[in-house]
Amino acid sequence: MNNPLRIAVLASGRGSNLAALLVARDCGDLPVEFVLVASDKAAAGALQLAQAAGVPTLALDPRHYPDRRAFDIDLFARLAASGAELLVLAGFMRIIDSDALTPWIGRMINIHPSLLPKYRGLHTHRRALEAGDSEHGASVHYVTAELDGGPVIAQVRLAVESGEDEHRLAQRLLPLEHRLLTAVVAGIAGGRIALDTDRVQFNGEALAQPLQLIDGRLVKNH
Ligand code: GRF
Repeated sequence: MNNPLRIAVLASGRGSNLAALLVARDCGDLPVEFVLVASDKAAAGALQLAQAAGVPTLALDPRHYPDRRAFDIDLFARLAASGAELLVLAGFMRIIDSDALTPWIGRMINIHPSLLPKYRGLHTHRRALEAGDSEHGASVHYVTAELDGGPVIAQVRLAVESGEDEHRLAQRLLPLEHRLLTAVVAGIAGGRIALDTDRVQFNGEALAQPLQLIDGRLVKNH
């Protein structure tokens, strides 16, 4: 059996995606080693979850740096020093300096609560409802310098219910996000998912469309 993939998770908030990854690891469904959980918010729930799970944590306060670039350079130097092979952005609410992130292209993924390329940025649930979309969802993509713009690996979809508000839509989507992120990290850890230049590879073949999570499994979208 191969060594578990060493991952670091970056999170600014409650950390429910991190919790899902930890549960999957504990269940034997995710062959990873958590080497670090890092945050820009000392009070982030994600840090408490990591501590409870015995994972090393790092909280860096952006206000202690002269600018965003200085913060990112320090953060990413520490991530490199952790030995992480994959960085997982799970609710990390900062735009990352392109010089800091470029060495990690192909080794850093993000979960975003929309069907990219729709609704990059914030308030995705509200924007989907305002547009009258019948379908909403989440995407996991490789991170590039373009905000929420890197190659999409996989998506999960759900039907919008009539009359629901953004909070209910977000609440219904969240457990699907957890399954999507877990499935993608498992795919990378198992060597089934990778990035080749700017194309996502699945089982050695370039994907024309993002994978879809259906009944808990990642499948090709024909
Ligand atoms: C998730 O909805 C994720 O898609 C978005 O931020 C949220 C993070 O939630 N990028 P949590 O902190 O993992 O609970």
